[in-house]
Formats: sequence, C-alpha cells, structure tokens
Amino acid sequence: MYAQMVDAGPERVRPAGEMSPEEQHFQERIDAGIKIEPKDFMPEAYRKTLIRQISQHAHSEIVGQLPEGNWITRAPTLKRKAILLAKVQDEAGHGLYLYSAVETLGVTREQTIEDLLSGKAKYSSIFNYPTLTWADIGAIGWLVDGSAIINQIPICRCSYGPYARAMVRICKEETFHTRQGFDIMLALCRGTPEQKAMAQDALNRWWWPSLMMHGPADSDSKHSAQSMRWKVKLFSNDELRQKFVDQTVPQAEYLGLKIPDPELKWNPERGHYDFGRIDWDEFYNVIQGNGPCNRERLRARIEAHEQGAWVREAAAAYARKHAQKKAAA
Ligand code: 3HC
Repeated sequence: MYAQMVDAGPERVRPAGEMSPEEQHFQERIDAGIKIEPKDFMPEAYRKTLIRQISQHAHSEIVGQLPEGNWITRAPTLKRKAILLAKVQDEAGHGLYLYSAVETLGVTREQTIEDLLSGKAKYSSIFNYPTLTWADIGAIGWLVDGSAIINQIPICRCSYGPYARAMVRICKEETFHTRQGFDIMLALCRGTPEQKAMAQDALNRWWWPSLMMHGPADSDSKHSAQSMRWKVKLFSNDELRQKFVDQTVPQAEYLGLKIPDPELKWNPERGHYDFGRIDWDEFYNVIQGNGPCNRERLRARIEAHEQGAWVREAAAAYARKHAQKKAAA
C-alpha cells in the first residue's frame, strides 16, 4: 500500500537467464561470499544501490550529530559533557569513513554532499525528532544507537569490501555509544521520581521512531529483495526490527520503564515479542520531509556547509601548493 509513496513498488529481481555472462559470474562471486572491490566488475544497478545506501548512511551520521549536539553545552556534569562530545565526534568520523567508501564507487564528495543539501538524498528518519530533555540523549544512545548496531553488524559482512570494512570500525564505536546512553537512562531511573519520569517521557517519544529506523515493512520495501540477493542487506527490515524489540524489552524492564505499546507481549510460540502496529503514515511523512525537525536539520547542514567553505578552499589551496612544491622538487 505504501510502496507507491516511495517511488515505484519493490524492485524486480532479474532471474539468471536475463543476466549477461559477466553478471552471472558476478552473482556467483556474491553467492560464494567473495568480497567485491572497487576495481572489480559490478553491474551498474549494484553500484547505484551502494551509492544510494552508503551515501544516505553517511548523511545519517552527519545529520545525527545535530540532535545530540544540542545538549553538549547543557550536559548535567563535566563527565557527561566529555562523553557526549566524544560520541558526537565519533559520528563525524563515521560519516567520513562512509563518504570515503562512497568515493570508491566513482562519485565525488561534492556531489554526494550536494545531494543531501538539495534534499535529493535521504538520511535516517530518526534524526528528524527534537531532543527536548537530557533524557533524550540517554534514549538516543540506548535506542537509536542500539537500533543502529543491530542494523550495522550484518553490514560488516556485506558483499562490498569498502563498506564492510568501514562498518567494522564504526560498530566498535557504536557499542560505546549505546552503553553510555543506557548508563544515562539508568542514572535517571535510579534518581528522583522527576528524573525517572523524564526517562519514561523520552522512551515514550523515541520508542516508535526507533522501530521505524529499520525501514518500511518488508512487504513495502522497494530495495530489500535485490539488496539481499546482492548481500548488501543480509537480513530484512522486519527481521532486524524484531531483533531490536526482543533485545530492548528486557532492558526497559531492568530500568523499570514501560514500553509505550499496549500490544507488546512475549509470544512463546514465536519465541519473540509481538508488538503493535507502526504508524506508517508518520514514517512516510517524516521521510518525505514533513517530520518535526526536517527543515531545521537541513538548514543547519546548509549553513554549516556555507560557513565552512573557506576551510575547504584553504585546504585545497594548501594541497595544490604542496603538490606543486613536490612536483618541482
Ligand atoms: N529513514 C529514511 N529513509 C528510509 C528509512 C529511514 N529509516 N528506511 C527506509 N528508507 C527509505 C530508503 O532509503 C528507500 O528510499 P530510497 O529508494 O529513496 O533510498 C525507501 O525508504 C524504501 O526502503 P527500503 O527498505 O526499500 O530501502 P533499503 O533497502 O535501503 O533499507 C535501510 C533501508 C534499512 C535504512 C538500509 O538503507 C540500510 O540498512 N542502510 C544502512 C544503515 C543506515 O543507513 N542507518 C541509518 C542510521 S545511521 C545511525 O543511526 C548512526 C548512529 O551512529 C546513530
């Protein structure tokens, strides 16, 4: 039902009989678990979906700094401020690894950034929500980075070498991100009743958007079938979403917080938690630019890009001068 809201419906996966010998050999390499490297043959559609996914992943890292950056000057202690600074700085590095991975596919950094600033490229829906209290910083670390880790660990084994390798480093740092978030929530839940209420309010606002991070329902996922055939995606959106729910519910119980879903219930037959219906209207509204903070986020990125132009020009001038000196030596 929603597939038409995000371009056409699910991409058609072409059968082997329609592939060229080169594409068949490419698919055999993928099936054999051989990593595809930048200089290897790859179908144009494979290259395009990698550019799409990796660039949007990079944009998510960079835009994802904004909600948390909002609280660096308001952290309750010097220790929390130092931890949050380190996390936000990590996210910039994650963006750098991923933008570098995109460049191995033959697109320039300038074009990739331009796609974000023009609104052409997406970034994760989750970063279009406001951070209203300090507890939101705990909920983001615990839930958003927790959700991201579940999504990113399989990508460490994806078929494209540079993407898989970037993910290994990123996932190591994400573990620190989610632990520091949970630690904030634990401190609040063990604090005053007002602090615990603040933690519950943050969970109430971040729970469902964290489930939406995993993308549309499998039945509405345009890219999943082909991305799984190419081992760009190793698990479906719904599989990873379920894994996130199963992992997080016991953590919320340990915190003494109530997950805002009256239909959440352990299903012994399935061996998973059943949970309520996601508000897909909200999801599609947010990814089409109508979320609470979309305009603010893009404006902040455009301003930062414009104000940072002189730094890029200076670095490029220095690099040119250095290259000329080297050539003349
Ligand atoms: N936010 C924005 N757009 C989303 C989305 C989300 N949460 N979920 C899906 N979409 C978009 C897709 O990009 C696609 O649109 P497009 O064709 O214009 O690109 C459309 O909705 C259909 O969705 P599909 O399921 O068919 O798309 P994918 O196969 O690409 O699956 C995905 C979506 C699971 C997000 C996949 O792209 C993916 O695994 N990406 C890599 C991980 C990533 O980007 N994570 C984002 C968070 S990063 C982060 O949290 C940083 C951490 O440090 C906090």
